[in-house]
Amino acid sequence: MKFSGEAPTLRQHRPWSPLVADTLDSLPAERARVLKQRLEHELPNLRSLLEHLYGRLPNFESFLSTLLVSTLRAAQQRDADLWALDLAREHDPAWHQRGMVGYCAYVDKFAGTLDGVQQRIGYLQELGVTYLHLLPFLKAGKAPNDGGFAVASFAEIEPTLGDMNALKSLCRALRGAGISLCSDLVLNHVAEDHAWARAARAADPSYREYFHWLDSEEAVREQEQHLVQIFPATAPGNFTYVAEQNAWVWTTFYPCQWDLNYANPAVFADMAAAMLHLANHGVEAFRLDSTGFLWKRPGTNCMNQPEVHLIVQAMRSLTAIASPAVLLKAEAIMPTQELPPYFGLGPVRGPECHIAYHSSLMAASWVALTEENPEVVSEVLAHTPDLPTGCSWLTYVRCHDDIGWNVLRPELAALGSDPLRRLARAASFLSGETEGSYARGARFQASDPSAVHGTNGMTAALTGLTGAGRQGGPQQELALQRIALMYAMSFFVGGLPLIYMGDELGLDNTSASELQARQGPDGRELHRPFMDEVALRQRHDPTTIPGQLFGMLRKLITVRQERLGHGAPLQIRPLPLSCASVLCLRRNGQMGLFNFSRKPVRVALQELGAMPLQDMFSGAQLATDTLELGPYGVAWLNPAEHA
Ligand code: GLC
Repeated sequence: MKFSGEAPTLRQHRPWSPLVADTLDSLPAERARVLKQRLEHELPNLRSLLEHLYGRLPNFESFLSTLLVSTLRAAQQRDADLWALDLAREHDPAWHQRGMVGYCAYVDKFAGTLDGVQQRIGYLQELGVTYLHLLPFLKAGKAPNDGGFAVASFAEIEPTLGDMNALKSLCRALRGAGISLCSDLVLNHVAEDHAWARAARAADPSYREYFHWLDSEEAVREQEQHLVQIFPATAPGNFTYVAEQNAWVWTTFYPCQWDLNYANPAVFADMAAAMLHLANHGVEAFRLDSTGFLWKRPGTNCMNQPEVHLIVQAMRSLTAIASPAVLLKAEAIMPTQELPPYFGLGPVRGPECHIAYHSSLMAASWVALTEENPEVVSEVLAHTPDLPTGCSWLTYVRCHDDIGWNVLRPELAALGSDPLRRLARAASFLSGETEGSYARGARFQASDPSAVHGTNGMTAALTGLTGAGRQGGPQQELALQRIALMYAMSFFVGGLPLIYMGDELGLDNTSASELQARQGPDGRELHRPFMDEVALRQRHDPTTIPGQLFGMLRKLITVRQERLGHGAPLQIRPLPLSCASVLCLRRNGQMGLFNFSRKPVRVALQELGAMPLQDMFSGAQLATDTLELGPYGVAWLNPAEHA
């Protein structure tokens, strides 16, 4: 992006430049009126955020003015239906907090193409989904490309999946069905064959500045000392030598993913433009991929730097001007303590992300399952901050990545246990290495030499459904109960619970032959299977596993929608019970009980403190003074006044 040379003079005491004023004047009257109001509201904060990042640069005013003009142009180009959605959601910021249910899938694995996804809208509606996260579908770099997370163009779709018209049409159809489309916005890096990287490689000085370079092995060694390694087995190190430049480019993830340099305002401006362009195609939510890594500060681990929050808050402010219907979701796989700033609760206060992944809760629920004791989940939830108005946790059981264990180290240390030993135990259990384990997962690479390896595998594999052989019998029954327990907890806690494609039907890990056919050595392919059309057709037959799991999730979704409140800000607090295997959670006065043990238990209702109680699943009032929970049993309870 090139900035205009306009002088920073102000006109009519407006806090914006003549160029911005002219742009506003050129818009249809009604849009101009609304956009002026939004600008007046947003600009003081936006200016301050950007001044912190770029104020030292001589062309700052011109940068700001050009950015505002392109943001206004994006708002001008918004189709009437999206503009109307913006107005509605601006006046109803809690629109996404009324029982939203997410589903996450790869386009090719779920339905072949974007048009194929459109054909599957009925399926998603049947399940009760209102938010669809499609994993990267933009034009990717040459394979292997980290499952599409190495983006070669933000303005084009991966040709095998469709084109921008197909995206627009899909978004519109989803919106008509009450489903919001979420797209990844890979902010941290681009593919080595993205035009910016190609220009940088060819020594174009402006594009060289889009990336971070080190010019000696010594500098690389010095910097590496402070950094973690994300893929130490398949992509060791954080820098990649580029012969044409005789220098090392920063590549936190794979060598094909070149980290962007946000100290360069042109990078910010181009990524903002990419976001608003996608929003104008109807994308309603952005998953801000690897958010924690956006700012590099030499001598630190370059994670969660304060500038990350300036960047994300500035992005949020731009959406508040041009596309306020849009949600921002932080993918910051960090310990719970690091997450409040992603909701704008850090040193830089202000609106930031609406949603963030609660990865500690996810990892803790798997530790709890393997230990048959929910102590770690309680510890995580006891330290989970209350959220500001309009914010939600994304909860999940599985996703396309490995289960990363190290996020839990602070909680385990607080419990006084040896965190590494305990995490290693959970990880080897889920990899099926522990004697007698029911799980069929696999190890993933560790993120530092003292770290525990991550774990791969579909829910069915990790809970013992795969191992039980799908022949019926008590082991299969227990596995189904484990899946129900994990999803029931996620649905109870989450503002946005996410179903990972295939879990609703109990899909197994990717088959060995399929894995062999896939390019690249990434172990996470294990839990990226194709949709099973036979299982999909069995979903209405309760005598089948797909039928039972689909029915179980349908029930959770309906009961959550009809009986569980969706108040915000949401407080979830554990309530200690005398029975160690049972997790009791209070959510705005309601209670969820989750038995993490294979042994049935009885809970004295007196311990819950509220009577009488209604069982949300059956609708019946509890008539006895004890509650029986079967193996891995669940109860959601309403005090009488909610019932
Ligand atoms: C995120 C994605 C992961 C990807 C990485 C690099 O963590 O979830 O799949 O490998 O970012 O883009």
